[in-house]
Amino acid sequence: MTFKIKNARDFVGKEVTLEGWMYNRRGSGKIYFLQLRDGTGFMQGIVTENESGKESMEQAEKLTMETSLRVTGLINKHPKLEDVFEMVVKKIEPLQIPAEEYPISKKEHGPEFLLDNRHLWLRSGKQWAIQRVRNTIINATYEYFAGNDFIKIDSPILTPNACEGTTELFEINYFDEDTAYLSQSGQLYLEAAIMSHGRVFDFGPVFRAEKSKTRRHLTEFWMMDAEMAYCDHEMNMKFQEELVMHILKRVLEKNLKELEILERDIAPLKKIKAPFIRKTHAEVIKELREMGSDIQPNHDLGADDETLLTQKYDQPIFVEKYPAEVKAFYMKRDPENEAVCLNCDLLAPEGYGEIIGGSQREDDLEVMLKRIGEHGLDPKVFDWYLDLRKYGTVPHSGFGYGLERITGWITGTHHIRETIPFPRLINRLRP
Ligand code: 4AD
Ligand code: MG
Repeated sequence: MTFKIKNARDFVGKEVTLEGWMYNRRGSGKIYFLQLRDGTGFMQGIVTENESGKESMEQAEKLTMETSLRVTGLINKHPKLEDVFEMVVKKIEPLQIPAEEYPISKKEHGPEFLLDNRHLWLRSGKQWAIQRVRNTIINATYEYFAGNDFIKIDSPILTPNACEGTTELFEINYFDEDTAYLSQSGQLYLEAAIMSHGRVFDFGPVFRAEKSKTRRHLTEFWMMDAEMAYCDHEMNMKFQEELVMHILKRVLEKNLKELEILERDIAPLKKIKAPFIRKTHAEVIKELREMGSDIQPNHDLGADDETLLTQKYDQPIFVEKYPAEVKAFYMKRDPENEAVCLNCDLLAPEGYGEIIGGSQREDDLEVMLKRIGEHGLDPKVFDWYLDLRKYGTVPHSGFGYGLERITGWITGTHHIRETIPFPRLINRLRP
């Protein structure tokens, strides 16, 4: 078995070779502490003349930050700390000792500098930890769907029409078709696929030319859309609850080290239990106004409103039945009140806000045609989508989560730009 830091406990008392990088070095003269990482974790290597020999001491002195190297040595349990291991170094083999000073040092750097150096910043402990949690969320999502009769359907990225409103579309020239748009959500395509498979999901990059410069907005982000045939608004919320609970369970099983590195207080995460809180949009408006917000009854929740509301509760909140005028054309209206939709946004606690948007879909051909007209959309572009209401239509619902929003909440990251490897923002397209 090759040695990896994450399995260090299986190698106590053995001599192993670690392949990785030295991200820092402490000590001088008589003893050096090499801060090592290998991708799976972090570990300290101890170099002394007695244990490591003269040559290793000389090597250790020359190493600079981010040296790539192989280090051979003996694995020991840390004398005091539980579940921490260290290496008594026997041999150091540098691959490259950077001659130039590494741009990211221990001192404080501003966010713009760090984002300019994102390709290097990804190596730092906190950024490492965030990506590990993100990866667990991805895997837990696939696992939940695989266990619940969903199959993955890959929706297209180049599309002829808008899914979520025309003001936020990225346009590109597309041969003789004139214009194509980058997908905002694969939902409409999943609605086609459920008529073949019943339950489906997609997971991929989506694009929004949103002029929002908030801590919750990216222009490119990863969305998971799920869609279910024979599923109403109530069942839709159940799926969301189960999925979120499954994700939390897996992260709390697999990423305690990462959450510790991030200094994420896990007590609030452990407290979360289904069923989540449910409120109608109208109830929330009333509550927010009582809390001092000037939100109007027919408005979508603003970023500040979401923060205000979700700081008040320690459980996720479904806000359901929004006024139809602020929501997408495809949402089914509430038969008991035509002014509102059978939709819900799921808001994460501790001020994080919306992580999921979902709804029951309009499944009647005539009504759908009417909605497309009301939203000023061109029915010709939606001909294929209307076909779904012509041939064997069924009640159906679905939802989409923003991976960066969920990762932001679970890792306790204030701005979601840190939760995606290479963020795309209005004012940032590099690295
Ligand atoms: O609420 P949204 O716009 O819903 C849809 O796109 C539906 N078609 C999904 C569906 O029903 N299948 O987006 C879904 C989620 C939001 O709840 C939020 O988490 C995330 O996507 N999101 C963003 N994340 C980062 N940056 C942005 N600009 C985002 N816009 C939405
Ligand atoms: Mg939304």
